[in-house]
Amino acid sequence: MKLTPRLLNIAKLVPKGSILADVGTDHGYIPVYLMKNKIVEKTIATDVNKGPLLSAQKNIKNNGLEDSIETRLGNGLEPIEPEEIDTVIIAGMGGLLIRDILMNHPKVTKSIKRFILQPMVAQDELRRWLCNNHFKIVEEKLVSEDHRIYEILVVEHGKDEIENEIYFEIGKKLIENKDPLLEIFIKKHIKKQNDIINNLIGQETDKAKNKLNQCKEKIHEFEEVLRWLKN
Ligand SMILES: C[S@@+](CC[C@H](N)C(=O)[O-])C[C@H]1O[C@@H](n2cnc3c(N)ncnc32)[C@H](O)[C@@H]1O
Repeated sequence: MKLTPRLLNIAKLVPKGSILADVGTDHGYIPVYLMKNKIVEKTIATDVNKGPLLSAQKNIKNNGLEDSIETRLGNGLEPIEPEEIDTVIIAGMGGLLIRDILMNHPKVTKSIKRFILQPMVAQDELRRWLCNNHFKIVEEKLVSEDHRIYEILVVEHGKDEIENEIYFEIGKKLIENKDPLLEIFIKKHIKKQNDIINNLIGQETDKAKNKLNQCKEKIHEFEEVLRWLKN
């Protein structure tokens, strides 16, 4: 089975021998890939909806893995017991939903060592929450698929030093590692800020003026990173 670049890069971040849960598994492609390639020791594939879980079960059966991948129906980490897994994947969901999943079952969250998170939106809000709640981003990667750039975060318990607000939007590890997609990624962020500025044209309220200044400040910071990258 061939995984798409997004799913493959998520799978590559799972340490060998992990005891894993893939929360919100949908098709179950990652658990099947990890089990077939003998990367994980044990996998639990969960989903809150019956339809996606059925689709995972079908895929697991087609690959003859029904004895080694367990499927469970339930919301977030609710179907997982504390100390049952050491690694979790929560991918393809919004950053705020990922945050809620981590928040809602603290005993389970506390017992997990490695979190592989792939938020589709609100990445900055997720990073901010992680930083304020004793999590440390130990690795980050950008992946391009279908003209979109996806952000994958590897998180552990610990303390993160975030010296600059910009790291909530552009992960610090992406900058430190000079991620190969960073330049395109930052240019997309600059375009987004310029689009907001264009929409603010003609608005004279204090709120609009503050927003305009914020956008300009962000563009300035993004351009500084771009300059640093080129040196
Ligand atoms: C867009 S799919 C992503 C599937 C897969 N993780 C991926 O990255 O390709 C989102 C899946 O998460 C499931 N989901 C949404 N909220 C959830 C929750 N609170 N707990 C568990 N699963 C959830 C949905 O039913 C859906 O199957």
